[in-house]
Amino acid sequence: MVCTMESDYKRILVTSALPYANGPLHLGHLAGAYLPADIYVRYQRLKKRDVVYICGSDEHGVPITIAAERKKVSPQSIVDEFHYRNKEAFAKFGIAFDYYGRTSAKIHHETSQEIFLRLHKKGIFKVKTEKQLFDKKANMFLADRYVKGTCPVCSNPEAYGDQCEKCGSTLSPSELINPKSAITGEPPEYRETKHWYLPLGDFQENVAKWIETRKHWKTNVLGQVKSWLSEGLADRAVTRDLSWGVPVPLEEAKGKVLYVWFDAPIGYISATKEWAVLQGRPDLWKLYWQDNHTKLVHFIGKDNIVFHCIMFPATLMELGDYVLPDNVPANEFLNLQGNKLSTSRNYAVWLDDYLQKFPVDPLRYYLTFNAPETKDADFTWQDFQQHNNSELADIMGNFINRTLTFAGKQFNGCIPERGVTDELDKQMLAILQDAPQKIGDLIEEYEFRRAIIALVDIGRAANKYFNDQEPWRSAKDNKSKCATTISICIHAVQTLALLMQPFMPESAARTWAMLGFTGNIQEIPWDTAGDCLLTPGAAFGPVSILFRKFEDTEIQPEIDRLRAISEAMFPAPATEKKEPETPKIKYEDFAKLDLRIARVLEAEKVEKADKLLKLLIQIGSEQRQIIAGVAKYYTPQEMIGKKIVVIANLEPAKIRGLESNGMLLAAEDEKGEFSVLMPEKDLDSGAKIR
Ligand code: 2FM
Ligand code: ZN
Repeated sequence: MVCTMESDYKRILVTSALPYANGPLHLGHLAGAYLPADIYVRYQRLKKRDVVYICGSDEHGVPITIAAERKKVSPQSIVDEFHYRNKEAFAKFGIAFDYYGRTSAKIHHETSQEIFLRLHKKGIFKVKTEKQLFDKKANMFLADRYVKGTCPVCSNPEAYGDQCEKCGSTLSPSELINPKSAITGEPPEYRETKHWYLPLGDFQENVAKWIETRKHWKTNVLGQVKSWLSEGLADRAVTRDLSWGVPVPLEEAKGKVLYVWFDAPIGYISATKEWAVLQGRPDLWKLYWQDNHTKLVHFIGKDNIVFHCIMFPATLMELGDYVLPDNVPANEFLNLQGNKLSTSRNYAVWLDDYLQKFPVDPLRYYLTFNAPETKDADFTWQDFQQHNNSELADIMGNFINRTLTFAGKQFNGCIPERGVTDELDKQMLAILQDAPQKIGDLIEEYEFRRAIIALVDIGRAANKYFNDQEPWRSAKDNKSKCATTISICIHAVQTLALLMQPFMPESAARTWAMLGFTGNIQEIPWDTAGDCLLTPGAAFGPVSILFRKFEDTEIQPEIDRLRAISEAMFPAPATEKKEPETPKIKYEDFAKLDLRIARVLEAEKVEKADKLLKLLIQIGSEQRQIIAGVAKYYTPQEMIGKKIVVIANLEPAKIRGLESNGMLLAAEDEKGEFSVLMPEKDLDSGAKIR
């Protein structure tokens, strides 16, 4: 069922991804899942709709325990610190949650356990005993990020047990080549352990059918979901051998906790329960989660799509009495001065730091104007400065300031009476009348970029109107025309203030006060923003600069700081560049490698792994299978018949459950050019490389 607000939906439940409470927040967070949601929610409140906005801290998972180990404190003290810090940072940026919960809360543990048990009683989970990596020294299983090693797809030596951050592949710890414990650095051994799996494959058909009804979703989201579905959904373990998390509520699972991605989305439900208790109606949460007339919208970043569009909905479908998301308007990523953000290297703009130097609303403006809505976007300080100065200061702020200053001088700081209107007046009034619907429609469609551009366009039109009507001339010879022009300009200021609210709430409230209104601007319904709410003769308040310009001297140090970090992160390929020292080896070391020429007989894509090819190769008289991470660069057809170089005596390994008996050699340069090594002449297969 696809409902529209006007028809079937009676209430809206908005969630933003629960940020991990293991570090401070930066611009990327704000641009991805919080600012767009806040704009949407503020708008819905002004439309007088029943909307609840839920978020909170994600306090489980390996990133938290690793942060705790690094700082030699308990996980609880890490999450306590960052829960409150992040909550405060969001508040300073005007992100107006109705409730900000946390997943270490008792109610969250209870809710997650109850949901797990309901699924368990329905016999949904598959229980499997398997060998998993175990660190003897630390005496623990190495789940997810507790293990590092070489990515089987792109050979990145720093890949994690759940993901390779270089090529983006989703991995499981056993797929890593040369795995090492992230705690002790020791190579782990395999030990048997039992886990509960959500058999997503069993839900594939239902999920796919439901996704078919989501035609209104953003194409970037649907694209990712469909690619997951076409690769086929695999079983996902929902339990872990860790000590920090929600305990699995089964006697036979003592010492195990729920997988963080099983419990985190349930955090939306438990936080809604807490909110309902605060409303004095503890059952109210049910209306938002279990009544079909709720429009549920999850705001997230693109790395969370699979969890919110497949795994969590599949869980909710199985429970049967929960609403599914109407939409998941996921954003892409925000880069910084041309590079990927890196929190570990401090290559980020932290929200706390930003606020020490600059005001909130210009950032809310620029992050919306430059939002990664359909593709990754780049935040540059220069662009931020330019858009602040030319749009906020020169257009919006200038129009508001010149209008009120002029009215102050010509009409004693009072709203003048409107007289006869001419064609230009009528045109301007029509723009103001149409604006709430136009901008509102864009917000409803999650087109926040276009919405804020439309807002600035009204400021632009108003400035032009002021110029075209030349009130400084009519002030001398036609005071009534001057009064009409200024009355309409003040009306435009009022409309701008009201429509600015979702995007720049602080500036909207300041403009409202400058207009002399004493009531709370948030009470004024969105739909009346284009009407004239002014009382002729009423005095307006003191006028001050709404948006100041940013000087080069303020911006340059920010650019310099990031440049210094990026130069250390990505040293320029200059002639003096030193390659990292690798220890010298003896010829005997080299001789241990059995490098051979091989001929590719057959090649095909590996199911559910878009970077891998399965190759059948001939080495002399022997045929064998290898799995190679080259599918991004070579089609199977391109590989068939090719002569390649392989390490023939590499220990066989399992990659994606397939045996790989050997490894081909390939090279990638700094430009990202990639080539499988192939001999220049047509050598026989089996020829030895010396
Ligand atoms: O990616 C993240 O930061 C996760 N902590 C998001 C969780 S969203 C939700 F499911 F809780
Ligand atoms: Zn990789």
